[in-house]
Amino acid sequence: MVAINVNGTTREVDVDPSTPLLWVIREQLSLTGTKFGCGMAQCGSCTVQLNGRPIRSCVTPVSAAVGQQVTTIEGLAPSDSELHPLQQAWIAHQVPQCGYCQSGQLMSAAALLEANPNPSDDEIDKAMAGNICRCGMYGRMKAAIKTVASASYYDAAATADGSKA
Ligand code: FES
Ligand code: FES
Repeated sequence: MVAINVNGTTREVDVDPSTPLLWVIREQLSLTGTKFGCGMAQCGSCTVQLNGRPIRSCVTPVSAAVGQQVTTIEGLAPSDSELHPLQQAWIAHQVPQCGYCQSGQLMSAAALLEANPNPSDDEIDKAMAGNICRCGMYGRMKAAIKTVASASYYDAAATADGSKA
């Protein structure tokens, strides 16, 4: 058995430790918001956060997540009744087209703003470069990210809990 913490809850799964985290998340835990795209660390659709950093779950063995905090798109919103600010901005800017890449995009964007609340255009481009969108919604995603950054959501949150300067 392998025990991993996903979205704040410890779950035990009966898998080989080398099993890609993506398949544990989707098949064992039924958290299907995280998508399989290429399986080769090329597209970013499988992006989840490991201790707040974006990773490609298709090439990450589940053993690498033991003792760490995994966050998937299902755990991004602060509660069942409240969307994450980026999810709200995604809706406001009508970002998704087919939607397939979007959970990975959001996990990368959220990790970026958590680490850097006021990113420059270049920093946004660099942070999001590994997430491919076949529908080409890059402009709207960037606008949505900048909306949340300019609203200083992350600065305010940091000030409130005193965890960041
Ligand atoms: S499915 Fe993981 S990067 Fe494409
Ligand atoms: S919205 Fe269709 S691939 Fe990104």
